[in-house]
Amino acid sequence: MTKVTISIIKADVGGWPGHSTVHPRLMEIAREMLSKAVKNATIKDFHVTHCGDDLELIMSHEKGDNNQHVHELAWNVFKEATKEAKSLKLYGAGQDMLSDAFSGNVRGLGPGIAEMTFTERKAEPIIAFLMDKTEPGAFNLPIFKMFADPFNTAGLVIDPNLHPGFRFEIWDIMESKKVMMSSPEEMYDILALVGAKERYVIKRIYPKKDGKLPADEPVAVISTEKLYKIAGEYVGKDDPVATVRAQSGLPALGEVLEPFAFPHLVSGWMRGSHNGPIMPVSVKNAMCTRFDGPPRVVGVGFQLSNAKLIGPVDLFDDPGFDYTREKAQWVADYMRRHGPFEPHRLPLADMEYTTLPNVMKKLKDRFQKVE
Ligand code: F6R
Ligand code: MG
Ligand code: MG
Repeated sequence: MTKVTISIIKADVGGWPGHSTVHPRLMEIAREMLSKAVKNATIKDFHVTHCGDDLELIMSHEKGDNNQHVHELAWNVFKEATKEAKSLKLYGAGQDMLSDAFSGNVRGLGPGIAEMTFTERKAEPIIAFLMDKTEPGAFNLPIFKMFADPFNTAGLVIDPNLHPGFRFEIWDIMESKKVMMSSPEEMYDILALVGAKERYVIKRIYPKKDGKLPADEPVAVISTEKLYKIAGEYVGKDDPVATVRAQSGLPALGEVLEPFAFPHLVSGWMRGSHNGPIMPVSVKNAMCTRFDGPPRVVGVGFQLSNAKLIGPVDLFDDPGFDYTREKAQWVADYMRRHGPFEPHRLPLADMEYTTLPNVMKKLKDRFQKVE
């Protein structure tokens, strides 16, 4: 049986205005090019959207992970959109296009990717989560809660299909290493790693063996590209995306969305250098304004039908999340009152840029030894 691949490939190729949102013309270009790609059978279906200043291409096809034609298509969309961004003088035009040439795979060239291949079930709900003004580790808490926390996911306790738990593929993004771990058996060890979210990030979730779903096919995947590693110097936070499958042996849609009812603190926000709450919003409200934020997450839902994306449903466009948004704004206000003080401002090592070396140079001769 042919497997379906869901590829979310995203890039910031220019903001409008500043780093707040994406100009509609860029999304139009993407839609035109992806429509042609459906006609010439490069992909089966697509949905173009945005979160903040990130242009998001959600594509379905049957060509597997890392397919050259699919990646080249996304690369070409971003190249064309960059041209338009430059002609409109949008802000930071081509920001995430770190290479001039495509070489078979978009990985390492700047755009972020969350891609997974699996056997489409009789009914297959999938959710694309798109974040702006934060980093991949921002997904650690919600993904952990979905697949490992019985206080979030009732099914882990009361559904025999979920009761065995899940396997976590965790990456050390500083040292480019990965480890497979099992929940609930190794839950505390998993938390010891993924609590350090700037270094250890959840990359994929797999079912356990002998369950309802094939154990070698992922049920969730998160983009983990680190732009500063790619560019050799810091060029911005790599606003992450994720795809999560739901229901029937997996967390229910509502269990997948539930972790986002808590606006947890993430790193990013203004100048990629501040901690703040992540606020779940509708696509319409996925616009980073206050202090270039607060960081936002959008959830776009689909049913898959023979690799067609039946949707989108704008999942956080729901009064059920109003209270979370209000709380997020309260927390945003509380954090903002710290101004340049940690823990609102990130520790020196994690900031996007810092004037400290210059300040130190200026003060070099004025520092005296403390006896
Ligand atoms: C954060 C972000 C913005 C910019 C800020 C300064 O990820 O994109 O907060 O860092 O607007 O931008 P520049 O330096 O381009 O003026
Ligand atoms: Mg930007
Ligand atoms: Mg962005």
